[in-house]
Amino acid sequence: MKLLVSAGPTREFLDPVRFLSNRSTGRMGYAVAEAGVAAGDEVALVSGPVEIAPPAGLAALDRVVSARDMLAALEKRVEWCDALVMTAAVADFRPESAAADKIRKGEMPETIRLVRNPDILKTLAPRKGRRVFVGFAAETRDAAASAARKLAAKGLDLVVANDVTAPGAGFGVDTNVVTLVSPDAPPESFPIATKRDIAAMLVERVRKLLLRQTESSLA
Ligand code: CTP
Repeated sequence: MKLLVSAGPTREFLDPVRFLSNRSTGRMGYAVAEAGVAAGDEVALVSGPVEIAPPAGLAALDRVVSARDMLAALEKRVEWCDALVMTAAVADFRPESAAADKIRKGEMPETIRLVRNPDILKTLAPRKGRRVFVGFAAETRDAAASAARKLAAKGLDLVVANDVTAPGAGFGVDTNVVTLVSPDAPPESFPIATKRDIAAMLVERVRKLLLRQTESSLA
């Protein structure tokens, strides 16, 4: 399988030293990439700024900074892939403009105007075809319900929902607690597990979905 994985946060600069970002560390996405390599898949990883080392054996690694960079990198690679697993925590907004020089405190506006970033999955949706597209949804409440909404809104095959406030789940820990939400089955909740084990399970799930989609397109 040719697996395209996005991981980590994006950074949206206000000036050369300040940015908006989020708490993503990239661990879940790097674990998915590693699980793909371990299973013998070809894996391309598009990563926002993180502090962990990429797994060995990647077919490609693109390091990106902003949501728009991430979109551009994924647009270049999407045709290549059989499946896209979007674990990245993409910043939904960016400052309307980024100053070329550091903004002095006397010049800092009290209000920073934000504009919407592109929704990467929605932008790539027209190019999905028979590919399997998987989203992640980090939630703080009603994880399964809002994952189901995202599944429909973004035309995905699977959403991996996690309540980032649950013990052992979310940012910066080696474990996660996930629920798989798909269009044609009830939500499936898993007990707490390492991100590595969840990643291995997910890669096999993606493989099954791809097989099913390939078979149904041949039928
Ligand atoms: N995502 C994306 N482009 C964005 C924001 C998110 O492709 N601009 C992807 C994420 O990588 C993830 C999925 O969409 O796989 C769900 O991300 P999430 O932030 O939970 O969804 P949003 O659509 O931003 O929903 P909301 O902020 O309303 O919860």
